Amino acid sequence: MADGENTKGISRRDFIKEAAVFGAGAVALTGLATKGALAEEAKDTPSQATAAPTTKEAVAIVKGGNDAKKYEEVMKAARERLFPKCRVCPECDGKACAGEWPGMGGVGSGRSFINNIEALAKRHLVMRTVHDVKKPDMSFTLWGEKLAFPILAACTGGTTYNMGGKIGEDEFIDAIIGGCQKAGTIGMAADGIGDPLSVYETRLRAIAAQSGKGIAIIKPRTQEEIIKRIRLVEASGALAVGIDIDSAGKAARALPGQTVEPKTTAQLRELVRATRLPFIVKGIMTVDEAVMAKEAGASAIVVSNHGGRVLDHTPGAAEVLPAIAEKLKGKLVIFCDGGVRYGADALKYLALGADAVLVGRPVVRGAFGGGQDGVALVLKKMKNELVDAMVLTGTASVRKVQEKILA
Ligand SMILES: Cc1cc2nc3c(=O)[nH]c(=O)nc-3n(C[C@H](O)[C@H](O)[C@H](O)COP(=O)(O)O)c2cc1C
Repeated sequence: MADGENTKGISRRDFIKEAAVFGAGAVALTGLATKGALAEEAKDTPSQATAAPTTKEAVAIVKGGNDAKKYEEVMKAARERLFPKCRVCPECDGKACAGEWPGMGGVGSGRSFINNIEALAKRHLVMRTVHDVKKPDMSFTLWGEKLAFPILAACTGGTTYNMGGKIGEDEFIDAIIGGCQKAGTIGMAADGIGDPLSVYETRLRAIAAQSGKGIAIIKPRTQEEIIKRIRLVEASGALAVGIDIDSAGKAARALPGQTVEPKTTAQLRELVRATRLPFIVKGIMTVDEAVMAKEAGASAIVVSNHGGRVLDHTPGAAEVLPAIAEKLKGKLVIFCDGGVRYGADALKYLALGADAVLVGRPVVRGAFGGGQDGVALVLKKMKNELVDAMVLTGTASVRKVQEKILA
């Protein structure tokens, strides 16, 4: 059978319906598997033959049907609302916005952001299609919470100073946390070092409004300030709390009166013990510090260079993840982020040892372009791409992704 003929025998209505649910690539494979049965059906209902899609319609379907059109509209609206802070480039790779911090770029030369993208791009997926993986298991349970897929929204914030101010922090966080719920996953809330406490409380209210289905991150402030915020997080009903320990640099020097600082293992332990919530240490890039976080009692780490926004010239997260995972896989939850733009990127991080991935800039675009629905659309698109990539690498479960799928 030639490429492009795989819709033969499948009614257009069924194809569109399944494309919306599974993503077109998965449908193409389903089509291969069920061609015989569907061809029989088509024989019985000859009128459907005349309803075959035109080439233009078929292309739209393969790109994701109505969702693809909506996605384009959301990105267009995002471009209008985020410009000039973010140009919503066709490929979000840190080049056009290098050095735009505050803003949406990477700090300094922008190298750390770009390194995230390049480190992922250097790894390739090994395509395998002689197997029986047709509908991969996407489910992932995080501290008792069942997620439809292991892609979460990262904590981002600063709608005025980073994103241009066309929407406020309240609208933004509602889009992130609520949009994640609509997509079947959860989102994180950030803490801005310069933000008044009331802004943090706004973010926590968004988590409370979604019955606590969200995670709250706190800047590495003084111990006393962190513990004060941990109490607020607990009151919101959030699933987990953590600190972005890598925010111990520039912001500390820039803002008099607000202190952020690196933490010792003993200080981390004090924070872990101050709460019954799972505690996350975000911003780990070395094996020894991952081990220290574990020894301090952390329930999770985020292998991350903060989207390249804190220190110039760090490696990409994909370069450091394998060694960290080799040491700690199964001993605590390993999240990884930086440069996840497609489902295939998520699959690469899972293959390198992450349990789940976080997505930053793409969900900011979704929030600005379409609120909760925009965020949900961005995440569902990635989920569909992840399903496709799993089918075409013979990966049966997001919980058992083998490194051998990478070249
Ligand atoms: C505008 C913006 C603001 C961010 N603010 C925070 C923050 O306050 N705390 C934090 O831990 N990470 C913050 N991050 C980093 C993200 O949580 C995440 O690590 C990063 O965006 C992942 O890279 P990606 O954007 O390439 O997906 C921010 C990222 C961006 C783009």
